[in-house]
This record gives sequence, structure tokens and C-alpha cells, in this order.
Amino acid sequence: MKISTSLMLGDCKEELKGVKGNSVDLIFTSPPYADSRKNTYGGLHPDEYVGWFEPISKELQLN
Ligand SMILES: C[S@@+](CC[C@H](N)C(=O)[O-])C[C@H]1O[C@@H](n2cnc3c(N)ncnc32)[C@H](O)[C@@H]1O
Repeated sequence: MKISTSLMLGDCKEELKGVKGNSVDLIFTSPPYADSRKNTYGGLHPDEYVGWFEPISKELQLN
């Protein structure tokens, strides 16, 4: 079995579009916290969080 690793730098909503389906075994992520670390990572109001994450989670399905 061949195992390969690659790192991508950019907006995940764009970068994930270039990843082939059925090519990823594991996704490990640390997405922004809704408003709780606003000064460090920027903020996203909790009411906007699901709407922000939904298109990203669709890209993460990578089928
Ligand atoms: C909670 S922090 C991650 C903290 C990191 N795990 C650490 O230990 O320092 C969330 C990170 O997601 C990044 N981020 C936010 N929106 C992003 C996006 N659309 N694509 C890629 N990274 C994003 C932010 O720049 C921030 O660095």
C-alpha cells in the first residue's frame, strides 16, 4: 500500500475543490471557534456558524 501526504495552504472552500474524490482517508481539522477566540482567530457569530460551515462540510465529503 502506498501512503502519501500533501499539505495545501489556502481557503479550504477553494482548495478542497481540487481534491479528487475517494482519495482521502482521514480529515483532522480545527475550525474557527464561534466568537470565543475573536481576538486571536477572528470572529464568527454563533448564529452564522452553521451557515458558514455547511458548504465546507459538503466539500469535506469528497465522494
Ligand atoms: C481555531 S483556529 C486553529 C487553531 C490551530 N489548530 C492552532 O492550534 O493554532 C482556526 C484556524 O482556521 C483558519 N481558517 C478560517 N477559515 C478558514 C478557511 N476558509 N480555510 C482555511 N483556514 C481557515 C484560521 O485562519 C485559523 O488559523
